[in-house]
Parts: sequence; C-alpha cells; structure tokens
Amino acid sequence: MSEWIRIHAPATTSNIGAGFDIFGLALDEPFDTIEGRKIDSGISITEISGPGSEGIPTDPTKNSVGIAATEVLKRTGSDFGIEIRIKKGIRPCSGIGSSGASAAGGAYLAHVLTGEKLTPTEVVLCAAHAEDVTSGGFHADNVAPCILGGFTMIRSYEPFEVISIRPPDDLGIVIAMPDVLVPTKESRQVLPTQVSVKDLVFHVGNASCLVHGMEVGDVDLIGRSIKDAVFEPARAGLVPHLKEAEKAALSAGAKASFLGGSGPCIISFFKKSEMDGKNIADAVKSVYDQNNMHCDTWVTTWGEGCRRE
Ligand code: HSE
Repeated sequence: MSEWIRIHAPATTSNIGAGFDIFGLALDEPFDTIEGRKIDSGISITEISGPGSEGIPTDPTKNSVGIAATEVLKRTGSDFGIEIRIKKGIRPCSGIGSSGASAAGGAYLAHVLTGEKLTPTEVVLCAAHAEDVTSGGFHADNVAPCILGGFTMIRSYEPFEVISIRPPDDLGIVIAMPDVLVPTKESRQVLPTQVSVKDLVFHVGNASCLVHGMEVGDVDLIGRSIKDAVFEPARAGLVPHLKEAEKAALSAGAKASFLGGSGPCIISFFKKSEMDGKNIADAVKSVYDQNNMHCDTWVTTWGEGCRRE
C-alpha cells in the first residue's frame, strides 16, 4: 500500500476592493486538509468530512479536488491514480475560497505525488481549471494565493502571469461568516458586463495604491485603498446586513471592511500593533445577533500557501 500524504490548503480572500479576479490573499485560518495516496488508476474520493461536506459531490469529475488532481496527472503524463480523503475546514459558498482551497489542495497533492514536476504557476493553472468547471468562470484569484501564499496579483490571464508578494506583518484580519450560502456561480451572474471610465479610473487608482501599501507595509494606505465601485455594489443584495456589518467593523477600529470574494464573508483589516481585532469580530457578530442570524468569526492574519503537513 502506498503511503498517505496530507496537504494543508488555506482559505483565501479575493478581490480585496478594486482587484476583482486579480488580487488574492492567503489566510492563516481556516483551512482544508486533503489526504491522498497513489493507487493503480483513476481518482477515487473515499471520504469527505467537515462543515458543508454533505453537499459536496464525491464524483471526481464534479469535485474540485478531483478535477484539479486529474489535471495535474494529465499534464504530467502520470500513469497512476489517487485515492483522496477531504477534510473541509472551510464551509462551501463562504466567500473565502472554499472551492479554491479544495482545487489548490487537490492540485498540490497530485503535484507532490508526481514528484513535483510542474512549476508553481502550472499548479495554479491546474487548480484554476477546477474553479472554471465548478464556479462558471476561469478565475485564479483564490487558487493563486492558496498555492503561492501571501498576497498575489494576476497581471494577465492570457498569457497567464501571477506575482506574489509578502504582505505586512502588522496586517490583522477578521473574517465574519454569516449563516447564508452564496454560490459563486450565482454571485457572478449579477455582475455588470461593462464599466464606466469613471469607475475604471477609480479602480486603477485604488488598486495601484493597495499594491504599494502591501509592498511598503503601510496598513493605513491598504485600508484607504480598499474600494470597489462596481462588483460589491452589484452583489450587496445577496448578503443580508452587509453594509451595517461593515459600518460596525469600521466603528470598532477596522482600517477597511469589505465583501470577501463572491460573498457572504465580510473581511475586515486592522493593525495588529493597535488592537487584537476581537472587538471588530464582536461588533460584526452583534449585527447578526440582533437580526437573529448566526455568524462565525475568526481573528487571524495572512498566511503561507499549500504545504505538506
Ligand atoms: N473573484 C471571484 C469572484 C472570487 O468575485 O467571483 C470568487 O470566490
């Protein structure tokens, strides 16, 4: 029997204001754990556990882990199969890269089992293929940070080029996940197909300054630069009490508060040197408590990418 190996695949937050489908950030927690071992042939998913796992297909042609792992085996011309066990730590339809962590974890698992023959960018592309199949759009802004770690920017999809930089150590992150499911496929259907020059100018200015803030470690500038005139406004109706929650986080000292990816998670950034972030988590949670909705929170920071445990 071949040895089981275990991959840690972190949650990620994408878009981050003006960087729709471009910016992504690996989170220190929560994370998925993907286990696998070589078998003679085929992809076999024998176990899925954790929050929301009951709705996840075990058919490897419909499962993000299975699709991404198959893509790596195909690209490397490998002649073996993989048995897979998935432990979800990130609930599906959360907006913090649940399918992205599964896709990235599946690609990374197969990459390790095939003897690491692909470049990191090729592993990202295999995972992005799974995102395309399951979410109805080729986007790599969750799988890129999930594999590469830190803050990532996709310069171009065709040809594909992704850059990763180390975010500031002082960047604290609060994740609030209200008890509502927002499938990415549906959240992409409400988006406009065109933007105005005014909004384009607004996004380029904010996106540029956010990247500068990440480079030089200026969390205040990062906070001021998290602005979205197009995508979050189009999606706001999908997440109950989004604006009240963001306002509560800002009043509690967050530098920015915004919709995580395609929603419903609400992400807030704070300075670790100024506070521990718990009051921000409590403020957002109390908005949902008052509206009789459950809301999970994590106080965390940015993290590294996929790795073997
Ligand atoms: N950039 C993607 C979107 C991320 O906003 O649809 C999906 O998690």
